[in-house]
Amino acid sequence: MTTTPANFNSEIHRVDFLAPYAEPQANAESFFDLGTRPVESLDGPWHFAIDPFDTCLRARWFEEKYADQAGRPCPTDFSFDEWEEVPVPSCWNVLKPEWKWFEGSGVYVRNLDFHPGESGERVFLAFAGAAYAAYVFLNGDYLGWHRGGSTPFRFEVTGKLKARNRLVVVVRNAREVENVPTNNFDWFNYGGLHRGVGLVRLPATFVKAASVTLVPDGSFSTVAVSVTVDGAERDGQARVEIPELGFAGSLTVAGGVGSAEFDVTPQLWSPDNPKLYDVVIRYGVDEWSDRIGFREIRVDGNEVLLNGVPVFLRGVCSHEESDLHGRSLTDEEIRETFRIAKEMGCDFMRLAHYPHSRATSRIADEVGVMLWEEVPVYWAIMFDSPSTLNDADNQLRELILRDRNRASVIIWSVGNENADTDARLAFMSHLADTCHDLDPTRLVSAACLVNPVIPAISDRLVDKLDVIGLNEYYGWYDPDFDKLPALFANSHPSKPVIITEFGADATPDLRGDADELYTEDHQLQIYQRQIEVLSTIDYIKGATPWIFYDFRCPRRTHVLQGYYNRKGLLSPDKTHRKLAFTAMQNWYQSMM
Ligand code: GCU
Repeated sequence: MTTTPANFNSEIHRVDFLAPYAEPQANAESFFDLGTRPVESLDGPWHFAIDPFDTCLRARWFEEKYADQAGRPCPTDFSFDEWEEVPVPSCWNVLKPEWKWFEGSGVYVRNLDFHPGESGERVFLAFAGAAYAAYVFLNGDYLGWHRGGSTPFRFEVTGKLKARNRLVVVVRNAREVENVPTNNFDWFNYGGLHRGVGLVRLPATFVKAASVTLVPDGSFSTVAVSVTVDGAERDGQARVEIPELGFAGSLTVAGGVGSAEFDVTPQLWSPDNPKLYDVVIRYGVDEWSDRIGFREIRVDGNEVLLNGVPVFLRGVCSHEESDLHGRSLTDEEIRETFRIAKEMGCDFMRLAHYPHSRATSRIADEVGVMLWEEVPVYWAIMFDSPSTLNDADNQLRELILRDRNRASVIIWSVGNENADTDARLAFMSHLADTCHDLDPTRLVSAACLVNPVIPAISDRLVDKLDVIGLNEYYGWYDPDFDKLPALFANSHPSKPVIITEFGADATPDLRGDADELYTEDHQLQIYQRQIEVLSTIDYIKGATPWIFYDFRCPRRTHVLQGYYNRKGLLSPDKTHRKLAFTAMQNWYQSMM
């Protein structure tokens, strides 16, 4: 019997090794919102190996062929069950020194014992995030892939699970020019199953998405509920309850969707009163619930109105990074970041430059911090590529579907610091339309650049924005500080402006003359001069200086940076407060 050796693959003769995995793709269409549903966690130890040449995908290791058709043993270049174990969630970069700078494929493997539940149940694998792309295999079969390093995704596995199963997930954080972001960005390229993985069981027909928000009409007494169901029972009644308010209502679902408005007057959510209500939606045998705050955010002329009251958004920018855990922050680390920010006088935070974890916005709801959430349409991406637009639009949709019931989230940002070209304008206008279509209750913005020739706000994208974000680095990248007042004198925006970035590098504890770059004294001088000007401009309705804490950055090789971006107001471990922290604290406390 002539047999082809089990693992002799034609993979060595194939260049486009990702082509066989182009379909199916998990995306916003296949996403469902968890609410407070129970998840059977798959977190914990998984077998793992870095795979620098993508050989798992090329040679199809996931098929686990250990013998030929005649049963003769065949060699393999992998040994899943003997590989070392790593904790999921985690970023491989912080687990071993030799993995710190690794970019490529990481292969995760675990067994999964499954016991069938209710008859007719549907079963899903739920991933909270994988950086950058994930290719998922169950018992040797390809379930599909997901791209976008910070948003959640699902795979239905109903009927595919046996008593004992093998799960193989290839996570690939290679920087690719067509990705979002592209292959050049000013933060550390963490890789891995950096957020949780779980199994979710749902009825045959279930609530796939629900939105429960205050109608932004200034009445603060109308709650809009929209429901999307998945399953055969696409026509019926959904019941909505807010027990603490003694409210119960129903809405008609037709063709799988339904919406209605109800007269309800909740206590309004705000940073000073982060009131949350249990909301329950029942449809058929399914029950979806979440803890939701009700607030209104809108603009009126140059004002930002929170619950009808003009506000100045006292903010700061933050990446999603802990010195110990990389991108996989613990809830305690998230709470500590918000605690220190509130101590600085903040009630707002710009989560740069990609969607932070689901826990971040849920904790912000609880502790009372408003959020700017952003997709990584960052610097020069491939604005003329349909595939790149699809990636950006999908990440944005997944973010909105995940967080649209979070009172803390007040602004969706479609990007950061992109040159004002025609291709970029079309690309980001499309994203702004996606935000307004999917969620008419929040503001849309972007962090725009100042006109490089004459200091002025002149980005054509502002016509599509509700709030203008503006990054300027006068005193640092452009030492000519006189341009800052000129910028505002030359600009006459009809919308609120948030200064979404200003700042300077300062090595923690490095002291010196106020004109000595990289000292805390120099950073302080720039903050003082920025605050002196910004506080006089009446159309500025918020500030998020760059950045709350120093963060790892491969582009920053100056001996005083040490592969960190040193513009933080805090040290990377958030224990040291630089001099400029107090300048911001004094400014914000003067407004409270
Ligand atoms: C840019 C960019 C940030 C970057 C910062 C800097 O404005 O938005 O991502 O880290 O400036 O240069 O430090």
